[in-house]
Amino acid sequence: MIEVVIATKNDKKLRELRRYLKSVKAHIVSLKEMSGTPRIREDKSTFKGNAVKKAVTISKFTKGVVLADDSGLCVDALGGEPGVKSARFAGPRKKDGDNSIKVLKLLEGLPAGKRTARFVCAIAIADKGKVIKLIEEYCSGRIADSVRGRHGFGYDPIFLIPEYKKTFGELGLKVKDKMSHRSKALKKARKFLREYL
Ligand code: IMP
Repeated sequence: MIEVVIATKNDKKLRELRRYLKSVKAHIVSLKEMSGTPRIREDKSTFKGNAVKKAVTISKFTKGVVLADDSGLCVDALGGEPGVKSARFAGPRKKDGDNSIKVLKLLEGLPAGKRTARFVCAIAIADKGKVIKLIEEYCSGRIADSVRGRHGFGYDPIFLIPEYKKTFGELGLKVKDKMSHRSKALKKARKFLREYL
């Protein structure tokens, strides 16, 4: 059976990706099960750039097809920040909650109409050192006035979905799965892999 390598060591991400790729007839492995792969710095200025860098680099170390993703939050009033720096916006050792608080502080006093934002997810699929598919998907919303809800991770508790008047932190995974940047991108990746493999 063909191997699909997920270019991550993050267990949460891996679980989510495995769930989406269940129907793909392939043996799914992660970087955790591979030895000798290099540590890859996510130093590109775009999500697509980082996803491509990870997928291409790892695909030179395996016979399998490699899927890599990069994602984050882009806030219009902050000129697209935190963007590719989403995971470390408040500093390298800070937690998810600190990143959200930093965004809330920067937007303090801004009216609802100017708090527009979107989550972005880029997925690159590579085979033998070449990109064979590049996907980017979005989920639009607004930044709430405060932290709301305990579901999800990262910026979920401050990301408001206007049609529900609730944050992803309040809505939970079932609703998030239907509209998230990652689920949209993964559905496209799944369709591509089913046809490619
Ligand atoms: P990555 O692991 O390099 O893709 O970093 C993604 C970062 O963006 C995470 O650490 C979160 O801060 C943020 N992020 C990406 N997707 C989501 C999401 O679905 N909800 C909340 N935060 C997200």
